Amino acid sequence: MIQSVDDLYDRLKSVKVGSQTCVFTREKCEEMWPVIQDINRIKKEKNALILAHSYVSPELLLSVADFTGDSYELSRKARESDADIIVFCAVKFMAETAKLLNPTKRVFIPTSLNGCTLADSITGADVRKLRQQYPDFAFVCYINTTMEVKAECDVCVTSSNVYRIIEQIPNQNIYFLPDKLMAQNIIEHAKVHYPNKVIKYWDGACYVHEDYDADMVRYLKSEYDSLAVLAHPECSPEVVAVADFVGSTSQMLQHVKQTDASAYFMLTECGLTSRIQLEMPDKKFVGTCTMCRYMKSNSLDKVLQTLTTLPSQYEIQLSPDVQQKALKCINEMFAY
Ligand code: 13P
Ligand code: SF4
Repeated sequence: MIQSVDDLYDRLKSVKVGSQTCVFTREKCEEMWPVIQDINRIKKEKNALILAHSYVSPELLLSVADFTGDSYELSRKARESDADIIVFCAVKFMAETAKLLNPTKRVFIPTSLNGCTLADSITGADVRKLRQQYPDFAFVCYINTTMEVKAECDVCVTSSNVYRIIEQIPNQNIYFLPDKLMAQNIIEHAKVHYPNKVIKYWDGACYVHEDYDADMVRYLKSEYDSLAVLAHPECSPEVVAVADFVGSTSQMLQHVKQTDASAYFMLTECGLTSRIQLEMPDKKFVGTCTMCRYMKSNSLDKVLQTLTTLPSQYEIQLSPDVQQKALKCINEMFAY
C-alpha cells in the first residue's frame, strides 16, 4: 500500500502511455493524496472492497484498489468476497456480474458513463428473436453483455476461457454474441481445433479494439527488432494473425512478465500498459494509447463520493426474474 505523497509520485511517474491524463506531477499527487487517504479510511470503516479492472486510471489501481484483474478474475473475487459493500471500478456489466454472484452485498459502480459498446449492442428481446430463428443452436454470450442478455443464453465466456469452453460445448451449432470480431477469431481457431462446429454470430464490436490495424502492426514490427505484439481477442482476425500472443488482459500481463522482448506493443486499452509500467518498470512499450471512455470515467473523486454517500443511482439492482436465469448462465461458465 502507498504510504506517502512521495511514494505515490515515485510510482506514478513511471507511467508513460502517451495520454495527458496519465502524466503525473508532484502537484497532482499532492492533490490526490487526501482523497486517497479518505477512501482508504472509509473503506475500512464500512468493510468495503474496491475491485478495479486493469483499464481504469493508474492512480486508482495503485492507491485504492484491493484487487485488479480481468473480467474472469474480478467475477471470481466478487464471488469469494465477504465485504459488505463492493465498489466496482469498471463498467456496468462487470458490476452486475458481481451483484449476481454475491447478491446479499451492496454493489456500486462509481460512474454513470458505465456502458460498453459490446454490451449495449444487443438486448434480451434480440436474443429471444434469435433463439426462435436458430432453435438448435447453443447460445454463448461474452461476459460483456447485460443481465437481460445473459438470462437468455446458455453459457457465458470471458476472453480468458472462450476458446476452451466453446470446444467443450457438446452442441455442434453455436450462436456467439455480441462480438463479431471475437466470433471471427473463434471461427479461425475452430478451423484447426473443432472444424465440425457451425458458428454464427451477432454484429457487435468494441470501439477500442476494432480500430487496430494489421498494417500498423507490420510497420512497427519492421521498425523495431524483436518487438513482441500482444493482442486481445476483441481485435480483428487480421490483427490477431500478425500478433505473437493472444489472450485476456491478465493473460497479456502474464505474458509480458514471463518473457523478455526488447519492447512490447499491447493491442488493447492503454490502462493495461500503464498497469504493467507500474508493476514492471523495466519493460519497454511502443505504439498507441487508446482509451475506453467508460473505464476511464471512474475516478478517485467519484469513488470517494460513492463510499461516503452510497448513492442509489450508482447502486446495482437486479430484477428478480432475470437474476436466476442469468446466474445459471454464469455458473455454467464456472462449471466448465
Ligand atoms: P478482459 O476480460 O480481457 O479484461 O476484457 C474485458 C474487456 O472489456 C476488454 O475490452
Ligand atoms: Fe467495452 Fe471495449 Fe470498453 Fe472493453 S474496452 S469495456 S469492450 S467498450
